Amino acid sequence: MGNVLIIDDEAGIRSILKDVLQDENYNVFLAEDGYKGLDMLNTEPIDLVILDVWLPNMGGIEVLKRIKEEYRDVEVIMISGHANINLAVKAVKMGAFDFLEKPLSLEKIITVVRNALELEKLKQENKQLRNNLFMEDEMVGSHPSMQKIREIIEQSAPTDARVLILGENGTGKELVARAIHLKSRRSQWPFVEVNCAAIPETLIESELFGHEKGAFTGAVSKRKGKFEIADRGTLFLDEIADMSLNTQAKVLRVIQELKFERVGGEESISVDVRLIAATNKVIEEEIKAKRFREDLYFRLNVIPIHVPPLRERTEDISALVKYFMKKFKPPALSEPKVISKDALEVLKKYPWPGNIRELKNVIERVNIMNDESIVSADILRECMPARGKRHAANWLSTFRGMPLNAARDSFEKELIKRKLEEDGYNLAQTAKDLGIYTSSLYGKIRKYAIEIKR
Ligand SMILES: Nc1ncnc2c1ncn2[C@@H]1O[C@H](COP(=O)(O)OP(=O)(O)OP(=O)(O)O)[C@@H](O)[C@H]1O
Ligand SMILES: [Mg+2]
Repeated sequence: MGNVLIIDDEAGIRSILKDVLQDENYNVFLAEDGYKGLDMLNTEPIDLVILDVWLPNMGGIEVLKRIKEEYRDVEVIMISGHANINLAVKAVKMGAFDFLEKPLSLEKIITVVRNALELEKLKQENKQLRNNLFMEDEMVGSHPSMQKIREIIEQSAPTDARVLILGENGTGKELVARAIHLKSRRSQWPFVEVNCAAIPETLIESELFGHEKGAFTGAVSKRKGKFEIADRGTLFLDEIADMSLNTQAKVLRVIQELKFERVGGEESISVDVRLIAATNKVIEEEIKAKRFREDLYFRLNVIPIHVPPLRERTEDISALVKYFMKKFKPPALSEPKVISKDALEVLKKYPWPGNIRELKNVIERVNIMNDESIVSADILRECMPARGKRHAANWLSTFRGMPLNAARDSFEKELIKRKLEEDGYNLAQTAKDLGIYTSSLYGKIRKYAIEIKR
């Protein structure tokens, strides 16, 4: 089965092809010129187009070009009455699946159509696999707030509207950003992520806008910035509240003028980029404290999405646990582990400062650290981070009598240790959370001889 559109101005050809393909159980659509054909592509789920080269109004090559621009996944078979090898080569270079000459051999047509649809199917499967890789997890959860988020994603994805995603650490902001990109017409183009907190202030401009050779010490060659790399796709500005005011002003200018210059360059570059921004800070407070520009906030906040903390949607914990149990099922077990009722209660009572990421890590640990197929509350507690054992005031007193440098080191070590534990010893994640480079995190782990438990 498959939906085939025939674009040919000769009624005879249309009707013969229609009969042959319908006999083979394909759904057939007909158009007598390029404009009508393109309209049909817009409204019908076409998988394959059989396209005549010589058409009135808009030539077949132009139609091919537009199809490949707008419907990359649709296969096109060109047909022509005037064998012309140059034209055939050109069409195939432009992405046509094959080029057939009139008079058409009906057997040949059937074979080529079958092959083209086979390829199309493989491409679809491939795309599905790619999408699964692109999204680290499915978006699990049926709490009303999650349903609302799904709705906003569906509505906003097809538009180019800017989206601002707000929420605590590990709530799933990046997942939302990726879902929007996947469902947008830009999904074939790049999704480029910039973590504004992890890039040193001195480098962020060159990171965003690129630089010319010799623009500054270390700029040994010309380099494209993220805005350019994301052309036609989506640029995800993560942790925007950590941008300096100076960089904020420059980003604002790009948004207003849709063009920019590379660092050290004069040439004005325009790009077609959809912006999605995210932050875990309370942005209104950042604005009040004059750390974030209000005008930039208004520009970015066209569609706001609030991703709630896990403790505000504990109803979803059960479904999330089930999902992660399946994901982290040890190969030795035939079925994923289940948790006992009181274990679920433990999970529901815990405040989850690291939100879904933290829950995910706990469930992963449960699957690595023991063999029980039913997880009791006790087993679970062993896999959860120890928290709140000391009060802040007591805790400060541990530094009493220490010189500042020693106290600072001691604090740094403890903070890194705790973050690593929360993140399940995912170093890249911890570096990101702490807003430092992974290499710098490695240095500190070595300096403080922190044990990596994995
Ligand atoms: N609804 C969900 N269902 C399943 N997994 C989820 C869900 N939301 C988030 N996750 C997973 O939790 C982890 C954290 O999500 P994500 O990185 O999107 O959060 P974030 O809000 O961007 O965090 P941060 O502020 O720390 O950058 C990821 O592994 C993600 O795949
Ligand atoms: Mg994130």
